[in-house]
Amino acid sequence: LRPIHRLLSCPGTVAADARKEEQSSGSAETGSEDRTPKKRFSEVQKERREQAQRSVLIHFPNKISEKKFLKYLSQHGPINNHFFYESFGLYAVVEFCQKESVASLQSVTRTPSMGTEAAIPFRSRCFHLKLKNASNQTSEQSCITRSNQSPPSSKKLFELLCDAESIDDQLNTLLKEFQLTEENTKLRYFTCSLIEDIAAAYFPDCAVRPFGSSVNGFGKLGCDLDMFLDLDEIGKFSDHKTLGNFLMEFQVKNVPSERIATQKILSVIGECLDHFGPGCVGVQKILNARCPLVRFSHQASGFQCDLTTNNRIALKSSELLYIYGALDSRVRALVFSIRCWARAHSLTSSIPGAWITNFSLTMMVIFFLQKRSPPILPTLDYLKSLADAEDKCIIEGHNCTFVCDLNRIKPSGNTETLELLLKEFFEYFGNFAFNKNSINIRQGKEQNKPEPSPLHIQNPFETSLNISKNVSQSQLQKFVDLARESAWILHQEVNGHPSPSSKLWGLAALLLPSVAKNVSQTKRKKKKPASERVKNLLESIKSSSTENSTNTNGT
Ligand code: GTP
Ligand code: MG
Repeated sequence: LRPIHRLLSCPGTVAADARKEEQSSGSAETGSEDRTPKKRFSEVQKERREQAQRSVLIHFPNKISEKKFLKYLSQHGPINNHFFYESFGLYAVVEFCQKESVASLQSVTRTPSMGTEAAIPFRSRCFHLKLKNASNQTSEQSCITRSNQSPPSSKKLFELLCDAESIDDQLNTLLKEFQLTEENTKLRYFTCSLIEDIAAAYFPDCAVRPFGSSVNGFGKLGCDLDMFLDLDEIGKFSDHKTLGNFLMEFQVKNVPSERIATQKILSVIGECLDHFGPGCVGVQKILNARCPLVRFSHQASGFQCDLTTNNRIALKSSELLYIYGALDSRVRALVFSIRCWARAHSLTSSIPGAWITNFSLTMMVIFFLQKRSPPILPTLDYLKSLADAEDKCIIEGHNCTFVCDLNRIKPSGNTETLELLLKEFFEYFGNFAFNKNSINIRQGKEQNKPEPSPLHIQNPFETSLNISKNVSQSQLQKFVDLARESAWILHQEVNGHPSPSSKLWGLAALLLPSVAKNVSQTKRKKKKPASERVKNLLESIKSSSTENSTNTNGT
C-alpha cells in the first residue's frame, strides 16, 4: 500500500480528491469519462496553503515508536494527518487540525545550546525530536512506512515499461511513477509556507506561493520548487476601513523602478534565508537576471528552490497549464512521456542554455492536441470566451483572462489512443515548418514567425514575447532528428517489426540513449543523406498512416 491510503483527512479535501484522481487515472482512456467535479486552481492553492500553515516538520532518531510520537504531539491538539520520509535522516510532516497547535508546540520547544558554536534563536516550524531515555523507547519501535520522494531508477522504469501491456499502458505507467505524490505536493506547499514565515517578519500579510511544475500538474518527482513572494495582498483591504474625510498612507521608501524594488526585497529575504533559515543552504542571489531570483537548497525537503517576486503572470501560466492538464487524462500522460524522452536524449537540461525547456515542450504538446481532429484541447481564445466577470484578469496591461471553472469546459469527443498521439506528435514536429511558423496556443494554429529565432512559441499572455528565444538552431535540429527517428521506431513497431533491441519495446525503446547515438552517428558519417533517408521514410509513413488512423480511431 502506498502511504496515501493511510492519510486521515476528511472527505472533500484536496487529499481525498487526489485519491479519487489516482484511482481513476490509468484506467480511463480519455478524460471525458471522468465526471467528478474538478476544483479550481485558486481553491486548491488556498486549501493547500492552509494545510501547510497548520503543519510542522520534525526530524527524529530512527528508533521511535510511531504511536508514542503521535500521542506526544497530540498533547498540542488533534492531528489531521502525517507522513514520514527519509532525507539525511528520518522526518515527519505533521498536519494539525488547528493552527493554534503549532504555537502550543513552539511554546514548549527550547533553543538548543551548541557547545562551541552559537545558535541563532529563530523559532521556525522545523524541529528536532530527541529521546530523553533512548533505551526504554527502542523496545516498542514500530515499522515506520516512509513515503518515497524520488523518481524511480532507470532500471525500475525500464522494467515497468517492458512489463506493460500496451504503449498506452506504458505512457500511463510512466505518469503514475513520475507524477508528484500527495506527500511530495504537501511538502512543496509546506516548504513555501516556511519561507513565508521568514518573509512575514518584514511583510506580515505576504504569501509565498508555489508555481510552475510543482502546481501545474506537470511536475515530476525531483523537479525544482518555483515559489513567488506575493506582496499584492498587502494593504488591499484597508480601503474599506478608511472613514471620514482623511486618507491614511504609510510613509515608505521610494526607489526608481519596480525592478529595483524587487531586487531590494529579494536581497534582504535572501540574506534572512542564508542567516536564519534552518536548512536553507547554498543561497545565491541572482538579482540581475531578467526575472531576479534567490536560489537555494532546502535541506530537509531536498528541494532546489527558486524564489522570485512580482511574478503574477507566471502564476497565471501555471493555472492555465493546470486547466489544460486536468481537462483530459491523455494530456498529462503525453506531456510526461515527451518530457522524459527529451531528458533521456539530453534535449533538456537542468542548466540554463540553448536547450528547449520543459515549459516550451508542454506548450508544443498543448498546441499539437489543439490541432487534432476533433481537437483534444480548446484554444486559449476559446477559454477566454467562456470567462465571466469574476474571471477577468489584467496583469501589467496584459489580458490574462480565461475561464477558471474547469467544469464549464466541454470534454473533447476525440477518442484517439495515446499510442497514436505519441507517434503523430513525433511526425507532426518532425515535419513542422519551424523556419517560417510560430506555435500559438492562443489561436491553436500556426502563425508567421514575427522574428527569426529558430524556434518561436508565442508567450500566451505577453504575446509579443517568444518563450523559446533561447533555443539554438542546432538544438532545434537535434529535436527534429530525434522526433523523426522516434516516429520511425514507433511506426516499425506498429507494423509488427519491433526494434532490434529485443525486449525493449514501445516507449522503452524511445527512451534508450542509443536512439540519440544512432542519430548523431549517422549524422556524423553522412549528414545529408541520413536526414533525407528519415524524411523519405516519414513521407511513406504519412501516406500509410492516413489509412491506419481511421482504424485506430474506430477502436
Ligand atoms: P520544470 O522543468 O519541471 O521545473 O518545469 P517548470 O514548468 O517549473 O519550468 P521552470 O522551473 O523553468 O519555470 C517555472 C515557470 O516559470 C513555468 O512553469 C512558467 O510559468 C514560467 N516560465 C518558465 N520559462 C518561461 C519563459 O521562457 N517565459 C515565460 N513567460 N515564462 C516562463
Ligand atoms: Mg520549475
